[in-house]
Amino acid sequence: PRRRARRGAGARKALTARADMAKRPLVERSDAASAMTVRPGGKGAPPARALYLRTYGCQMNVYDSERMAELLAPLGYRAAAAPEDADMALINTCHIREKASEKVYSELGRLRVLQKAKAAAGGRMILAVAGCVAQAEGAEMLRRAPFVDIVLGPGSYHRLPEMVARAHRAAGAPALDTDFPAVSKFDSLPEERAAPGPSAFLAVQEGCDKFCAFCVVPYTRGAEESRPLARVAAEARRLAAGGARAIVLLGQNVNAWRAGGRGLAELIAELARIDGVDRLRYTTSHPVDMTEALVRAHAEIPQLMPSLHLPVQSGSDRVLAAMNRRHTRGDYLRIVDRLRAARPDIALSSDFIVGHPGETDRDFADTLALAEEVGFAGAFAFRYSPRPGTPAAAREDRVPEEAARERLAALQAALAASRRRFDRAAVGRMLPVLFERPGRHPGQLVGRTPYMQAVHVSGGGFEVGDLAPVRIAAAGANSLSGTAAEAPG
Ligand code: SAH
Ligand code: SF4
Ligand code: F3S
Repeated sequence: PRRRARRGAGARKALTARADMAKRPLVERSDAASAMTVRPGGKGAPPARALYLRTYGCQMNVYDSERMAELLAPLGYRAAAAPEDADMALINTCHIREKASEKVYSELGRLRVLQKAKAAAGGRMILAVAGCVAQAEGAEMLRRAPFVDIVLGPGSYHRLPEMVARAHRAAGAPALDTDFPAVSKFDSLPEERAAPGPSAFLAVQEGCDKFCAFCVVPYTRGAEESRPLARVAAEARRLAAGGARAIVLLGQNVNAWRAGGRGLAELIAELARIDGVDRLRYTTSHPVDMTEALVRAHAEIPQLMPSLHLPVQSGSDRVLAAMNRRHTRGDYLRIVDRLRAARPDIALSSDFIVGHPGETDRDFADTLALAEEVGFAGAFAFRYSPRPGTPAAAREDRVPEEAARERLAALQAALAASRRRFDRAAVGRMLPVLFERPGRHPGQLVGRTPYMQAVHVSGGGFEVGDLAPVRIAAAGANSLSGTAAEAPG
């Protein structure tokens, strides 16, 4: 059973954990492996070991994977070129929909083959499973995949080095840790962080107390918990000193952040004062925690970017009530109005679920109408997936699969059209772009506009990490393209 009482009992605010506007839904992210770096071993350095790290799920998982890689660096682990070479394979899992969860077992099946081959050659591959599937299935996972050495939930990452050291000593004695320790894991993570890129994630809050009827997150991430301001600010300063110019504050319900009597708006104001922090964003937010102060921050803090991921899930009051969302369609539209009054150009994005138990054609029509009315800059729509142990999964008024598929296709088409309209409106404009990585072609860079749009940029002689005005020339299916003015000098 969860130990909610020990983690901020009575908290009314919820939390989050999801893919924001990276314009990618909750899909696998194998790119996290490239984030691993390790200082070259000096005197008494541990033996070099290869770590294969694969990350599924939301940005919180991407952040957690980076932190786990940093935790393992002192044990000699650095990124493996290929899974076959790995001395340890660590998969960070997502439980949000059935598909995401099932991927874990197929991935484990593939790794089992490599693990056997390695053993036959006289070596060893430690297999570790972290994240939300590990939390949800725990001991059952060790039964279903007995060759797994380590199963650890999101509350236990700081114990990973100790678990790995134990696995090195004792082969064949799997270790399980899915506790939510009383001491926050955040406070026991090492302070040092590997050099970030121009844009870095920073977890400020974790867990969720909202209990939407369809969602597993409150069970896999535990009760809401906020990191103290001083620790967040210290990490932000280290990120900025390491070259990060954009910081994305993460939490399963990030706008419920609260510490020392202060809220997220005050945290953002504090971070905006740090030298080198040019851009701030936060994700994912829940409508009920969209305070007046936070809305005002969008008008008053120039570093706070004009983009916001604010999931609505449905446009029907009946379905919102069935989902236990605690807000109505009208509440949501009023928040949108307030945000646009504060920051007229704000780019809004959202998540939708179609086919929630009890949803009728008429409810769905309300959802489509809401999407039209808001005009999202981008949004994700998912077909409802029943999750074990959640209240919605126990309902008998399921929507037939065929109807849900049709609704999904209709909503996705509407959201794509809305996104194209938003992107096309940028064509011809000059927008400040932060260059985040090299593009595919020589001399090309990929960056982001203030509205979170990806832009492929040619010309200008700029480098990754520069922020420069770009003339937007065209809007493609997934990104913009443009030309930068010449870099000075
Ligand atoms: N904390 C975030 C989101 C967490 S999950 C929030 O409050 O919005 C990310 C998205 O996955 C959700 O916004 C929801 O749209 C979707 N999702 C969650 N549970 C789901 C389920 N059982 N079936 C389909 N989609 C789901
Ligand atoms: Fe919490 Fe609801 Fe978001 Fe799930 S969808 S994380 S229950 S606020
Ligand atoms: Fe994130 Fe998936 Fe867990 S969305 S919080 S990794 S269930």
